[in-house]
Amino acid sequence: MRKITARTLLLVGVFGLLILQFCKERKTTQLPVDGQEENRKIRELHKYDSYVYSWPKCEQNTSAANITGFSSLPGHIQDFLYYRHCRHFPMLLDVSDKCGGASQSAEVFLLLVIKSSPVNYDRREVLRKTWAEEREQNGVWIRRLFISGTMDSGHEKNRLNKLLELEHREHNDILQWDFSDSFFNLTLKQILFLEWMEKNCPKARFLFNGDDDVFANTDNMVQYLQGLDDNDGSKHLFTGHLIQNVGPIRSQRSKYFVPVQVQESESYPPYCGGGGFLLSGYTAMVIYNMSKSITILPIDDVYMGLCLAKAGLGPSSHMGVKTAGLYVPSSNTDMYDPCYYKEIILVHRFFPAHMYLMWHRIHDPKLKCGL
Ligand SMILES: *[C@@H]1O[C@H](CO)[C@@H](O)[C@H](O)[C@H]1NC(C)=O
Ligand SMILES: *[C@@H]1O[C@H](CO)[C@@H](O)[C@H](O)[C@H]1NC(C)=O
Ligand SMILES: *[C@@H]1O[C@H](CO)[C@@H](O)[C@H](O)[C@H]1NC(C)=O
Ligand SMILES: *[C@@H]1O[C@H](CO)[C@@H](O)[C@H](O)[C@H]1NC(C)=O
Repeated sequence: MRKITARTLLLVGVFGLLILQFCKERKTTQLPVDGQEENRKIRELHKYDSYVYSWPKCEQNTSAANITGFSSLPGHIQDFLYYRHCRHFPMLLDVSDKCGGASQSAEVFLLLVIKSSPVNYDRREVLRKTWAEEREQNGVWIRRLFISGTMDSGHEKNRLNKLLELEHREHNDILQWDFSDSFFNLTLKQILFLEWMEKNCPKARFLFNGDDDVFANTDNMVQYLQGLDDNDGSKHLFTGHLIQNVGPIRSQRSKYFVPVQVQESESYPPYCGGGGFLLSGYTAMVIYNMSKSITILPIDDVYMGLCLAKAGLGPSSHMGVKTAGLYVPSSNTDMYDPCYYKEIILVHRFFPAHMYLMWHRIHDPKLKCGL
C-alpha cells in the first residue's frame, strides 16, 4: 500500500514538472510572432522615411484550393498558388541612398544586385572582399546590394534578422523584405527589387543580377560594358547564358517542377540563366513596367524572359557567362587555374574559400597566362 502511494506521488510529480515545462516553452515560442506588434515596430523605426512603411498583411487566396487537382500538388506549389497575388511586403532593411538619391543615380555605372538568403553570411562576407567590393573601377563606380527575405519562424527568424541588421549596420548593403525567402519566391524578390530601383536608383547605367555563389569578374564586366557601342545604359541590354526552346518541367521530382495549374503553356520564352546576367538600367525599368501586368511565375529567370517578350525585346548570349560551369580541356589540368578565370565574366559555382583565393590569384601581377 505504502509503495503504491510513493510511486503515485512520484508519477504525479514528474507529470507536473512536464506540464510546467510545456507551458514555459509555449509561452516563449508565442512571444515574438505577433504580426501587428512587429508592424508597429517597423512603422516606428521608419516613421520619417516615406518609402519604408508596412503593408497590410497579404491574405491567402482561399479560392486557389478550387483549382482542379489542387490537393494532389506538392505543398510548396499549393503555397505558391495561395500567395501568388501578393506583391507588397514590409521592408525590414533599406539603403535608400545607395545610389546617392534617384536624381544622382546615373553616377552608378554598375549596380551589383545579389540574391542572398539570410543564412548565407559567409558568402556575403567573402563577396564584400572580392568581386563585389564597392569601388571605382576604370573611372566608374561599382555599387553593391544584397537582396533578401526572411527565413524560418520564431526565435530562429529573429536571430537571422538580427544578423542581417548587424551586417547592414556595418556595410550598408542589404535590402530585406518580410517575405519567406524560398526558391518559389525568387520572382517576388526580383519584382520587389525593381520597385525599389524605380524609386531609389532609376538611372543606374547597368546592373549585374545574380546569385551569391557565383564567381563574377566585375573588372571584365566594366570593361565589356564600357566597350559597348552606342549604349550608356539608356538602351536595351540583357545578356548572359541564353536558354531557348525549353518549357516547364512537368516531373514532380524536379526542383523546377511547374504543373499546368501554375503555367499552362508548354513553352518558355528565351531567357538568361538566373545564376547571373547583365542588363541596362533602361531594360530593368522596362521589365518592371511589364511585370505589373504579368501574373507571377515561380521561376524568376523565366519570368524576366516573359517580361522582355511582352515588351518586344529579347535576351542575348554572352560567351563569358558560364552558369553551367567552366569547360576544362583535360582531367589533369587544374580546374582552378586562374588563367581560365581571367577572361570570363561569370562562373557558377564557387565556395567562399575558392572565391577568395581566385580573386587574389587573377589579380596577381606575376600571373602569366599563355597567348
Ligand atoms: C471556391 O472556394 C471558395 C472558398 O473556399 C468557396 O466559397 C467557393 O464557393 C468556391 N468557388 C467555386 C467556383 O467552386
Ligand atoms: C484566386 O485564385 C483563383 C483561382 O486560381 C483566381 O481565379 C483568382 O483570380 C485569384 N484571386 C486573386 C486575388 O488573385
Ligand atoms: C512567399 O512568401 C510569402 C510571405 O512570407 C508566403 O506566405 C508564401 O508562402 C511564400 N511562397 C512560397 C511559394 O514560398
Ligand atoms: C515605365 O512606365 C512609366 C510610367 O508609365 C514611364 O514613365 C516610363 O517611361 C516607363 N519606363 C520605361 C523604361 O519604359
